[in-house]
Amino acid sequence: MDGYASFLLSVLPFTFLALILGVLYFIWWKPKMIERYLNKQGIHGLPYRLLYGNLKEMSKVAKEATSKPNKFSHGIIQRADPLIQKTMLKLGKLFFVWFGPVPQLVVMEPELIKEILNNKSGDFGKMQVNSFTKLFTNGLANIDGEIWAKHRKIINPSFHMEKLKRMLPAFSICCDEMIEKWEKLVGLEGSCELDVHNEFQILTGDVISRAAFGSNFEEGRRIFHLQKEQGDLFVKSFYMMVFPWLSGDKAWEEG
Ligand SMILES: *[C@@H]1O[C@H](CO)[C@@H](O)[C@H](O)[C@H]1NC(C)=O
Repeated sequence: MDGYASFLLSVLPFTFLALILGVLYFIWWKPKMIERYLNKQGIHGLPYRLLYGNLKEMSKVAKEATSKPNKFSHGIIQRADPLIQKTMLKLGKLFFVWFGPVPQLVVMEPELIKEILNNKSGDFGKMQVNSFTKLFTNGLANIDGEIWAKHRKIINPSFHMEKLKRMLPAFSICCDEMIEKWEKLVGLEGSCELDVHNEFQILTGDVISRAAFGSNFEEGRRIFHLQKEQGDLFVKSFYMMVFPWLSGDKAWEEG
């Protein structure tokens, strides 16, 4: 018994040391190695900062950008993704930024994007989602390889032109409803401001509800409403799960 206890005591410091080294490797050594490797290939990025990567800068410039009033302009990137725009102006159309200790390569060169999208080697897979995200959504958008091919095959027939044509009346009704609603909002003054993102989400939900649920349209609408609510809650809790130290940071929450 005594021997066992002293054995434990002598092993414990090593276990502890190994754990610390492992963490250090993950949050410092590995990112630094990747950084050097990418630099060698002529790709540069924002400097890696311990643990956070560039998340703090991202949240800071996002706050700055959204604190200014929204101008009516097509140049929305300085508001939608200010850090990416700033970095692009500095480093060109191929660079990397750090999401915590994980680098993300940003490719804005059309020829390169084409090459990546056309590449069938499987080296350019979809982004790995964590198990928490999988709980919420595990559809075509985030699966790869054979499972993707199988699912894709199952839904393919639904997208045949003949089938889509039969849904046109449903699409048309939904668009009419939305335009009618907008015309009412514009009213006598002739102009108004509305959140197009939200409106188009409603439109998509309505279109699917009408096309898939038919006369049970309201039921479908209710399901979409619940799903949206779930989605909002998911986004709110997502950053707390992934980056607990950012949970007080409201820049990540929309609306
Ligand atoms: C696809 O990408 C891989 C990895 O970068 C590369 O080796 C291969 O040559 C590419 N294939 C084509 C057809 O470009």
